[in-house]
Amino acid sequence: MGFVIAVDGPAASGKGTIANRLGALYGFPVLDSGLLYRGVGVKLTEQGGDLDDVAAATAAAETLEASELDRPELRTRAAGELASRVAVHTPVRLALRDFQVRFAAQEPGAVIDGRDIGTVICPEAPAKLYVTATAAIRADRRWKQLVGQGEGVTYEEILADILRRDERDGGRKDSPMSQADDAVLLDTSEMTIEQAFDAARRIVEDARARWKA
Ligand code: DC
Repeated sequence: MGFVIAVDGPAASGKGTIANRLGALYGFPVLDSGLLYRGVGVKLTEQGGDLDDVAAATAAAETLEASELDRPELRTRAAGELASRVAVHTPVRLALRDFQVRFAAQEPGAVIDGRDIGTVICPEAPAKLYVTATAAIRADRRWKQLVGQGEGVTYEEILADILRRDERDGGRKDSPMSQADDAVLLDTSEMTIEQAFDAARRIVEDARARWKA
């Protein structure tokens, strides 16, 4: 295994930005694992399937192609909710697991962000971050991002989305969103993007110094 950097945390915590910037810094490929679940939720819905239909959701996961992950529809507010709904099904998670494990195995390293990367997908990752921020601050960030994409939504609607998703993602039985025992907590509530990235970089540099040492 190369130098895997696992970046977990709740929606709109800043983990995606941090993961992308770490990938650019080290020259590692970056996987946004949330896109896999978004891909399954959107595909299933487009097929007219029911989000609680485990067999149909699993079939959508098993046939998901990397080429389906670039679609802008996956970045919408609605897709986040669909993703969280299909992510509770164990067979869906299993169907998406190999792709993530193979991605992580790339040399000389890889960055993956998600909810269960440090706990379930790559428990051996040498660098683990758990990025968080208060729900109010995450809602504000996500709201501004969605308005920037042209979505007509209110801050209150986004806050409600975030609280509902935190509860579902953190409360499910299989691979709930949680901080791994050996992950370093990074609370970005009071930080700018630059400050958050700088703190993340220092955490990863520490892990790199210990790795293979
Ligand atoms: O990171 P995101 O907001 O794009 O993720 C969308 C949903 O996908 C999230 O609410 C829960 C699910 N998810 C998951 O269960 N496990 C992951 N590793 C990543 C995302």
